[in-house]
Amino acid sequence: MDKLIIKGGKKLKGDVTVSGSKNASLPIFVATLLAPGINQISNVPFLRDINTTIKVLESLGGSVEGNGNIVRIDTSTINSHEATYDLVKTMRASVLVLGPLLARFGKARVSLPGGCAIGARPINLHLKGLQALGAEITLEHGYVEAKCRRLKGARINFDVSTVGGTEHLMMAAATAKGETLLENAAREPEIVDLALYLNRMGAKIEGAGTDTIRIQGVSELSAANYEVMPDRIEAGTFMIAAAMTGGDIRIHNMKLEHLDALAFKMQDAGVEITTRDGVVRVKGPRRVKSVNIKTRPYPGFPTDMQAQFMAMMCVADGASVISENIFENRFMHVSELQRFGADITVEGNTATVKGVKKLSGAPVMATDLRASASLILAGLASEGTTEVTRIYHLDRGYESIEKKFAALGADIQRVKE
Ligand code: EPU
Repeated sequence: MDKLIIKGGKKLKGDVTVSGSKNASLPIFVATLLAPGINQISNVPFLRDINTTIKVLESLGGSVEGNGNIVRIDTSTINSHEATYDLVKTMRASVLVLGPLLARFGKARVSLPGGCAIGARPINLHLKGLQALGAEITLEHGYVEAKCRRLKGARINFDVSTVGGTEHLMMAAATAKGETLLENAAREPEIVDLALYLNRMGAKIEGAGTDTIRIQGVSELSAANYEVMPDRIEAGTFMIAAAMTGGDIRIHNMKLEHLDALAFKMQDAGVEITTRDGVVRVKGPRRVKSVNIKTRPYPGFPTDMQAQFMAMMCVADGASVISENIFENRFMHVSELQRFGADITVEGNTATVKGVKKLSGAPVMATDLRASASLILAGLASEGTTEVTRIYHLDRGYESIEKKFAALGADIQRVKE
């Protein structure tokens, strides 16, 4: 197993380029199942979760070839409609194959994902929506079995804003008979990216990015080429790294408009953010000020940036209150951040962080993807050496992050344990 060794205290400087979005690539890869043919998807990040998605597509009979950040997915040979526990337990997003398989073949068998480090993460709203579209669903032996003739358009109102649920039903409804209306739909940019890809395949989807998505079912879709949007969470992680180390960096291939909630909070904390010719420059102050945040569905403050923002608040001037409103167990990084000397108390879904002048490097353990990022950030801003173990979590969602940080002047190395 690999680990990261970080010698903190370097101000980050220079240029960095953001990779393609993990959370946009995953549903787009899955959507290729909706039609037979060859799809060329570009700006795909090299990540473990992408490899898992490729394995899922291959296990269904598809063939996938990669060339740099371009992936060609041939779905004309799909001959299975089952996603096994082994694959789904490695990556929850694999359950999204259920809707597309059902839409294309009228049947699907997909393992239930089980628990997750950050919360229970049920898929009840996905299943309820598919039932509303006319699928017959049974749960047996840990698997969801679904069948249907042709799915039929329906009006679906989500109880809570769900990114995966919205994506799943958008895919399933694309070829349903008649019109589907998704109300209280999630509005994340990744949903817009998926809708653009589906429309490229011939779907008729309007309103993605708003809370009401209207889908006119079409009789069939065809394979299409698409370039995935940049990863907003990776971009946000670099922004915080610059701010925490008092650095000055320029971020390429990012869309600042996808990160408004974060950028406003960072400006409140005293960070300078400017844009020129599409490049975002982030300049940290000598010491950031404390700011409160509450995670919310988009366009609110993203839960996927909460751990990294908390790392920054650990060295802020003053006390900050951070509430996590999306996942019930997303404070696993707190006890690891405390090992750096951070002053954090947690009550329910709220953490109070009293900024300290200096963190001190420590051996720590990654617990989930974004928690891992927060530990690297803390390490970069600490005095002394930090050792982050279990970084396989990090490899799920950040492409060559240590190389990118090293190019910005950080002293960071990946070593074998
Ligand atoms: N929920 C339900 N029932 C459902 C679906 C969701 O109760 O059927 C609840 C969840 O338990 C959670 C809330 O709704 O409390 C929101 O969950 P959502 O469905 O929006 O999350 P997701 O689709 O499972 C995606 C990202 C996550 C990101 C969340 C929230 C992907 C592959 N994953 O998950 O990304 O945190 O949206 O923005 O797109 C990450 O990248 O580190 C990550 C965890």
